Amino acid sequence: MINKGIILAGGTGSRMSPLTKSVNKQLLPLYDKPLIFYPLSVLMLAGIKNVLIIVNKGQLAQFRKILPENNNLGIKIQYKEQFKPNGLPEAFIIGEKFIGKDNVALILGDNFFYGQSLTKTLKKNISIKNGAKVFLHPVKNPNLYGVATINKKNKVIKLIEKPKKTSSNLAVTGLYFFDNKVIKFSKTLKPSKRKELEIVDLLKKYKKSNNLKAELIGRGGTWLDTGNIQDYYNASNYIAVIENRQGLKIACIEEIAFKNKWIGKKNILDAIKFYGNCDYANYLKKLI
Ligand code: G1P
Repeated sequence: MINKGIILAGGTGSRMSPLTKSVNKQLLPLYDKPLIFYPLSVLMLAGIKNVLIIVNKGQLAQFRKILPENNNLGIKIQYKEQFKPNGLPEAFIIGEKFIGKDNVALILGDNFFYGQSLTKTLKKNISIKNGAKVFLHPVKNPNLYGVATINKKNKVIKLIEKPKKTSSNLAVTGLYFFDNKVIKFSKTLKPSKRKELEIVDLLKKYKKSNNLKAELIGRGGTWLDTGNIQDYYNASNYIAVIENRQGLKIACIEEIAFKNKWIGKKNILDAIKFYGNCDYANYLKKLI
């Protein structure tokens, strides 16, 4: 069972400079809310109430302003700083104490997931006891990502980080479920050519012990990248189109907490006060 989640919200966001020179990318707006709300909402939809957010050195105050430890979401949020972007697996070394003896989910702070069966998929996989699970999604440009080849039983038989050529179109998305061995495995990794610990190398440790499984987020689901400006605005527009059509918000974290019965009316009222007079607060008013 996975009951803890880490959001890795560090990184320099260099591909989005100058926007990211003074502000962490995960605090920039993705349509009508900060980007960080989206990965947090995914963990919450999975039922995870214990969250560690890893941010760049010196950025704690910025994050605490929007997602305080003492929040209206009925969840526990803690923070840790990453001093340098040393790669994704460093999250498990920084988060060692937070993870303790538990299993853990990792989601990258700039990943966007959406779709009718998302919650069902998350809930189905959250019960994982041993091994690791990756979530794969078909893309046109797999060479930009970690790429997996799977067999008929959804077992990963090949994994390559940003291959020049590949016969698989399945990208490894930025959502991963791990058992507690992830801490031990992460500590044995060596930096790659780009001087970072690589998530693919970590996943290969699980693959070697026959313990790496995959879940497919098929074409009916959505996984969007917010890595460069164009993709970022495309994701923003995607959210705008759906929200304005339905009148429902994607990744309204208070709505998710309320529907999960983690919070009551009083918390929603407090959240409305916290956000002030804005469209987001007006949406919260409609919930109660
Ligand atoms: C990272 C991982 C890659 C994964 C991607 C998902 O890429 O290394 O395997 O497919 O996140 O967003 P990076 O952001 O380091 O380019």
